[in-house]
Amino acid sequence: MPMRVSRVGIKTANIALAAQSEDAGVVSGTTEPIQSPRKRHAIELFEPLPRHYDRVAAVLSFGQDPRWRHAMVSAVHAKPEERVLDVATGTGLVAQALVRAYRCSVVGLDQSSRMLERAHQRLACDPQLAERVRLVMGEAEQLPFADAEFDHLTFTYLLRYVDDPAATLCELSRVVKPGGRVAMLEFAVPERQPWRTLWSFYTRVGLPASGRLISREWSRTGSFLARSIPEFYSRIPLDRLVELWREAGIEAVQVRRMSLGGGVVIWGTKADGQRRVI
Ligand SMILES: C[S@@+](CC[C@H](N)C(=O)[O-])C[C@H]1O[C@@H](n2cnc3c(N)ncnc32)[C@H](O)[C@@H]1O
Repeated sequence: MPMRVSRVGIKTANIALAAQSEDAGVVSGTTEPIQSPRKRHAIELFEPLPRHYDRVAAVLSFGQDPRWRHAMVSAVHAKPEERVLDVATGTGLVAQALVRAYRCSVVGLDQSSRMLERAHQRLACDPQLAERVRLVMGEAEQLPFADAEFDHLTFTYLLRYVDDPAATLCELSRVVKPGGRVAMLEFAVPERQPWRTLWSFYTRVGLPASGRLISREWSRTGSFLARSIPEFYSRIPLDRLVELWREAGIEAVQVRRMSLGGGVVIWGTKADGQRRVI
């Protein structure tokens, strides 16, 4: 069944799984999307990618991405009756893993309708997923949800695409109940030699080359990742990123570097009162 998107005069819309609900297309946001060059690029980048996204993401991460995703999901500890918001859900891999691990309910949010279409195709094939996952089109910077609406929240490969990671972290934290878990996954730059040099070589030469074997779009993505990962950590080193988590009202923050430092999983617990130190 095709997914329906309804936009009633405003730009942020909900997409429920059509197979699951006749209410698909209920509008939930009231604000205009932000359209900075970084944001436009993030939207354009994912337009042509969804078809082979899952396999290619694993290949481009040297087969490590599924392990990282598993580690992040394991940090959530959701109960079956709880609701998790998965931001930047893309093709729904994390949403699927959360349901399989905990039988919880998941709302998967993304700003790309193409990625959400792919997520819809994946989820609609499995009755358990179709029943427990709802897909919503929206932006991490201005979530169409009330304060403390979710028990837990996950986000994967998101912060490199937003203009203000500190503000986005506050927004993500806002919708989580006190005591809820927040967990993220991101690429990282290895700290130690020789891995750092090998990583630089792989991202500058290997990633674009492997992308070229797949398609022009994936070649562009490989080149983009080679620039975007180091650029992100030169703006916000990992220690500073952990501080931003605390400033967003998330405590007991833990960091797990994986695969010689090529991936990082960060998780913590939403504190009782949200605070942001500026
Ligand atoms: C690399 S994909 C990751 C998808 C998924 N989390 C995964 O692990 O496979 C990044 C996703 O973030 C989404 N995205 C980027 N910026 C966003 C934003 N500001 N708000 C919502 N989604 C965003 C993109 O549309 C894309 O689907």
